[in-house]
Amino acid sequence: MFIADICGKAGRQATAHLTEVLKEKFNADYVVANVENAAGGFGVTPEMSRKIFTYGVNVQTSGNHIWDRVDILEYFEEEPKLLRPDNYPKSAPGSGVYLDDVSGTKIAVMNLMGRTYMHNIDCPFKAAAKNLAGISKETNIIFLDFHAEATSEKQAMMHHLDGRVSAIVGTHTHVQTADEYITENGTAYITDAGMTGSYDSVIGMEVGPSLGRFLTGMPKRFTAAKDDVKIAGVIVAIDKTTGKAKSIQRYRYDFDINKIDESKFAILGYKPKRSSIAHLQEDDSNDN
Ligand code: FE2
Repeated sequence: MFIADICGKAGRQATAHLTEVLKEKFNADYVVANVENAAGGFGVTPEMSRKIFTYGVNVQTSGNHIWDRVDILEYFEEEPKLLRPDNYPKSAPGSGVYLDDVSGTKIAVMNLMGRTYMHNIDCPFKAAAKNLAGISKETNIIFLDFHAEATSEKQAMMHHLDGRVSAIVGTHTHVQTADEYITENGTAYITDAGMTGSYDSVIGMEVGPSLGRFLTGMPKRFTAAKDDVKIAGVIVAIDKTTGKAKSIQRYRYDFDINKIDESKFAILGYKPKRSSIAHLQEDDSNDN
């Protein structure tokens, strides 16, 4: 199960309350979430990252905003399950690959970033091929979060890795695309998984400053928006033996912090026993 870009407090709250519910609904064994916008839209703090792991997330991916919070640099030394795009120069802290072992099943998660209309970092296509040479010896269950702006670059990566990875899920643009499919060689693909956060916004941020920047051409201070919150992402079923994708399904659900139980019930489609739904883990951080 992939949780699309968690944006600001609204996104963190939806993740806190709904991750376990969605895991139950979709029978998910493993959860990856992109957290690069979790801290008010700009990066993630160590405290937030630690908390997001407690919600049932196994590995966190990121992107261009991962460096926005300076204290994340040291956190990389203690937490290998927070990934940054692997194609940053080797001097950057952290890694873009994590190899997990879940009850004897090895799962690799990789995070890469595109270069079209983005930072001019190392080549993601070369980095992918180099990483796969090592990862493929360990497992054929390989999930890639490709954080990129351009649809063309994401589709090109799909062809580059076709049949060599289980899934390629695009992130960064925050708008879920309706192009999910599985190639003949068994790679699941979607151009963008969407966003977990406020949809009454400009890609998760308050409308005023975002619109103002376009109207005036001047920089503005951005704040994460709060209204019309949704959790979004994809569910990918992967054959444990072959590593081939069997299905890919988009999801997007409303979340209202004032109607927590109703949100959970709506997602599950039935009223679960109290004990079976997630214990509430409020995100009480004042950080936007
Ligand atoms: Fe991004």
